[in-house]
Amino acid sequence: MLRIKNLLLIIVLVSFVSCTVRANVSYDGRSFIINGQRKILISGSIHYPRSTPEMWPDLIQKAKDGGLDVIQTYVFWNVHEPSPGNYNFEGRGDIVKFLKLVKAAGLYVHLRIGPYICAEWNFGGFPVWLKYVPGIEFRTDNGPFKAAMQGFVTKIVNLMKSENLFEPQGGPIIMSQIENEYGPVEWEIGAPGKAYTKWAAQMAVAQTTGVPWVMCKQQDAPDPTIDACNGFYCEGYVPNKPYKPKMFTEIWTGWYTQYGGPTPIRPAEDLAFAVARFIHNNGSFFNYYMYHGGTNFGRSASGLFVATSYDYDAPIDEYGLLNEPKYGHLRDLHKAIKQCEPALVSTYPTVIWLGKNQEAHVFKSKSGACAAFLSNYDPTYQVRVSFQNLPYDLPPWSISILPDCKTVVYNTAKVNTPSTQAKMTPVGGQLSWQSYIDETPSADDRDTLAMNGLWEQINVTRDSSDYLWYLTDVNIASNEGFLKSGQYPLLTVMSAGHALHVFVNGQLSGTVYGSLDNPRLTYSSNVKLWAGVNKIALLSVAVGLANVGVHFETWNAGVLGPVTLKGLNEGTRDLTKQTWSYKVGLKGESRGLNTITGSASVEWAQGSLLAKKQPLTWYKTTFSTPQGNDPIAIDMGSMGKGEVWVNGQSIGRHWPAYIAKGSCSKCNYAGTYSETKCQSNCGQPSQRWYHIPRSWLNPSGNFLVVLEEGGGDVNGISLVRRTR
Ligand SMILES: *[C@@H]1O[C@H](CO)[C@@H](O)[C@H](O)[C@H]1NC(C)=O
Ligand SMILES: *[C@@H]1O[C@H](CO)[C@@H](O)[C@H](O)[C@H]1NC(C)=O
Ligand SMILES: *[C@@H]1O[C@H](CO)[C@@H](O)[C@H](O)[C@H]1NC(C)=O
Repeated sequence: MLRIKNLLLIIVLVSFVSCTVRANVSYDGRSFIINGQRKILISGSIHYPRSTPEMWPDLIQKAKDGGLDVIQTYVFWNVHEPSPGNYNFEGRGDIVKFLKLVKAAGLYVHLRIGPYICAEWNFGGFPVWLKYVPGIEFRTDNGPFKAAMQGFVTKIVNLMKSENLFEPQGGPIIMSQIENEYGPVEWEIGAPGKAYTKWAAQMAVAQTTGVPWVMCKQQDAPDPTIDACNGFYCEGYVPNKPYKPKMFTEIWTGWYTQYGGPTPIRPAEDLAFAVARFIHNNGSFFNYYMYHGGTNFGRSASGLFVATSYDYDAPIDEYGLLNEPKYGHLRDLHKAIKQCEPALVSTYPTVIWLGKNQEAHVFKSKSGACAAFLSNYDPTYQVRVSFQNLPYDLPPWSISILPDCKTVVYNTAKVNTPSTQAKMTPVGGQLSWQSYIDETPSADDRDTLAMNGLWEQINVTRDSSDYLWYLTDVNIASNEGFLKSGQYPLLTVMSAGHALHVFVNGQLSGTVYGSLDNPRLTYSSNVKLWAGVNKIALLSVAVGLANVGVHFETWNAGVLGPVTLKGLNEGTRDLTKQTWSYKVGLKGESRGLNTITGSASVEWAQGSLLAKKQPLTWYKTTFSTPQGNDPIAIDMGSMGKGEVWVNGQSIGRHWPAYIAKGSCSKCNYAGTYSETKCQSNCGQPSQRWYHIPRSWLNPSGNFLVVLEEGGGDVNGISLVRRTR
């Protein structure tokens, strides 16, 4: 009996072993195990569409030199499937090329397939057409949604398999992610959310990729998926099962910039402190979100009001230059952690009390390796502690790392890397501009669509443009009292967002816009009307679609009303339900004025006829590429709001007229960080400079087009070279 039992046990063990051999990536409570080797994994996020294929090799090499083992990226559904069944894996969407470059550099990949990705990316990564699939509800137990999600996940997994990119196939992908930060949504919507979580995990695992799946910010992640923590700090996180490794999938290296907000900065000392604290508390995988933030080219920035720059105060800046001292300070940290790795992966720490706010975390392996982390959590005082009878001085809010339990090789608050200041130097001299003033359409135009009442903007545009015109006529009788008194009526327009230009009889009569905290807006102003027919033209402008929130797909944009005119003989006239005509996009957009061929279709003014600070104006010029290899940007400080194209490619929405409000007081690294603790740029445009990737340029004759909504001064625009 006993023998049979032992035999069974051996059979079970053998099949278990052969299983783990086949799945080359496995895990337990201490760490990931890759091909039998335990690892502390150091990872960083680089999102392939936020840079260019020409930038990728350098970014990846810098990540490697910075001591990373893993590159983490989301997969961007709306980049890859712009319309149902039509796939795009070209250019900045060439994910296979990106992953092969990571492999060639000898790094691993954490592939976050989502397909919900949040990411301050338009619509959280979902294609806009998905919203209009009949019966769909996003991210819940909903048949049409689950079918679409499974379709895309399978598409990506099969693509990866066909390119041998999963680790058991010899590829770099050692882990994937399904969903993204779903826990808070599940908590709000309850039972259907729980059912969806279970389904998502099962659907993912059934893809049999041979590598683990992660569900971040999802504490009930079903086995065998691993729950993981995102935040500024995650040292206290405990995985939902003792046999899952402790993962920090997003350690925020800074924060995104929003239009109207200052530039967030996270001190390198505090970032290193958060990492060391996580590692000495059992942490086995951490990922910098972002390691390179990059640029939200085109119209890819999400609502609401996320800037074109996605610099994030990451260790590699938006332009691909090293953000020092952060990059170097973290590289040194990674070296110290790797020196401790043999001790770290073989045991859990013993925690020794050294003082009121001081501890030692000691990793002593059976084989004799010993590593210690000495910590001082006090944000104010430097403290001398005694550890194994030796004195150690710990600056406030810092951790010292002792890979041999004796010698300090690193302290998180002692920065040895000199800092570098980013510099923008004008190059190339004055640009010579031509202008074309776009036309305000009228309800009588043939290419408008007349409907009763006010329609939701995205339903009409399907996000093919930021712009939607709402056009209507207002008849004013010749006996209206205001015609004599001169007390013009008050036009009030309520909009769900995000920006609005109001034209009355062809004249711009005002602009209003919302903010990230409140995208809604109200325009209210007395408007000059005349007897007879008056043309009201409301240009509603979306600034990206929402990317986060419970059922963010139901959030509206555009003029939903009421729209009223107050101060007439009849009192207040409600325009909300009358006939409105709609036109998607600007005339210049449909003519393709951002391209050379399209721009030939209109007459451009120049010299003394050049439009001066006119709203809704297109400007064009050509320029030669500045010499050298420094990254190039365009200084838009004199402009208002709009979009910029170079050789037909959109470098993003510009909005320097939106000034950064907030507090930019002096910043102390010590003490708990939050995204508003350390900021710069208050009182300046939230974003003045916009990156033009060098690979988009020819040596000369580069075609530059600016669409300006607001009436900025085009002669203030210049090209600059970025150095540090
Ligand atoms: C990983 O697993 C595959 C089978 O899935 C096997 O062919 C390969 O040899 C393994 N690689 C290593 C390094 O063990
Ligand atoms: C680290 O793991 C050990 C073993 O599971 C556990 O006893 C300890 O509480 C953990 N420490 C932290 C800070 O999670
Ligand atoms: C969206 O547009 C369609 C017609 O194209 C209409 O039937 C539907 O009611 C609209 N939905 C909303 C929410 O406006």
